[in-house]
Amino acid sequence: MLGSGGREHALAWKLAQSPACAKLYAAPGNPGIGEEAELVSLDAGDHAAVVQFCAGNAVDLVVVGPEAPLVDGLADSLRNAGVAVFGPSKLAAQLEGSKGFTKDLCERANIPTAGYVRTTSYDQAKSVLDRFEAPYVLKADGLAAGKGVVIAETRAEAEAALEDMFGGAFGAAGAEVVIEEFLRGEEASFFALTDGSAILPFGSAQDHKRVGEGDTGPNTGGMGAYSPATVLTAELQAQVIREIIEPTVRTMAAEGMPYSGVLYAGLMLTEKGPQLIEYNCRFGDPECQVLMTRLESDLTEILMACAEGRLSEAEAQFSDDTALTVVMAANGYPGTPDKGGAIDLGTSETNGAKVFHAGTVLRDGQLLANGGRVLNVTARGPNVTAAQAAAYDAVDAISFPSGFCRRDIGWREVERESVL
Ligand code: AMP
Ligand code: GLY
Repeated sequence: MLGSGGREHALAWKLAQSPACAKLYAAPGNPGIGEEAELVSLDAGDHAAVVQFCAGNAVDLVVVGPEAPLVDGLADSLRNAGVAVFGPSKLAAQLEGSKGFTKDLCERANIPTAGYVRTTSYDQAKSVLDRFEAPYVLKADGLAAGKGVVIAETRAEAEAALEDMFGGAFGAAGAEVVIEEFLRGEEASFFALTDGSAILPFGSAQDHKRVGEGDTGPNTGGMGAYSPATVLTAELQAQVIREIIEPTVRTMAAEGMPYSGVLYAGLMLTEKGPQLIEYNCRFGDPECQVLMTRLESDLTEILMACAEGRLSEAEAQFSDDTALTVVMAANGYPGTPDKGGAIDLGTSETNGAKVFHAGTVLRDGQLLANGGRVLNVTARGPNVTAAQAAAYDAVDAISFPSGFCRRDIGWREVERESVL
């Protein structure tokens, strides 16, 4: 398993529970992952080194956590060397790696998404703004670590953002900018595994991207999440599969870039039905933590079946429980986070909660903060209200003086439950 965050801790935790997983290595991992796997030092950017490690250690399956190595073609290097891998090829990973690629695919396959124009210069983009109304949605085409999207309330703000983007604020990712129509509705995430032909629905979630309570303040990688997302009813999920996931999988295969791995669809539930906001080519972080908490099936067998093109044989059972995760971040996040703050997990896990490590390091036996998002405190219950209470009980058992968390993760669902 490749990666070092809370998503990868959740994956490692679940992989390690499987009888089919005799030995698990993780690179580079973190102290939490170290309790589930043997940590090895490998650079995912060095494809030859990863391939050599797999050959030398009889690795049967590589699970790639983050997007960057996939967009960089690591899955191709592994497959070419005969190593099974969970994650898409470089061509298929364009679904996350290029927003313009995905918008064009939606157009070809008639997938519901916001109207858009791809632009390649400031002057062109500025004149294209005439065709849109505020708020303006501007997206750097390439990977920008979750920071490449600007929603501008006024024309002046939009022009300033375009100037930044074409001026290199996001490096090469901003050489092209997609301008799109603003969608209104509630956001939800839907996950599906595919091996290029079979599709296995893999749960839903909602996350909280803003740093502040009430969903205010700057965007982050995600301050908490819960699963399932009840707004995505069974009927809506069927519609998402039919109108969004199936045409994507079919078109990618027909065009010679079959997609194998997880499709993470960011959706807007609009009055006209679900529309695709974006695809990611990996699990969400922290959405993965709540999916893995609910998954009752053997993850190793499912991911192996996916990697080997036998996904139609696999089944995925999820508990009816709700899982909820609270991100504890280091002070300063999403700006420059304080490093090295002491953490004591105390009795946080005694009542069935699970603390996934996102950005920690062990020094002389002491657990320290080592990143922006540090811990993902995860619990389950019969509904969101119960899962939320259990997660915050666990949060309260943790000592992390230089950290903070939002106290309202799941508020939308808790409100909905309170009027039932
Ligand atoms: P993305 O990185 O594409 O997920 O965009 C980040 C966030 O921007 C999304 O989670 C949405 O909240 C918002 N967003 C992106 N595209 C649109 C759109 N077309 N209309 C409204 N909000 C959007
Ligand atoms: N939590 C949002 C993401 O993983 O992209």
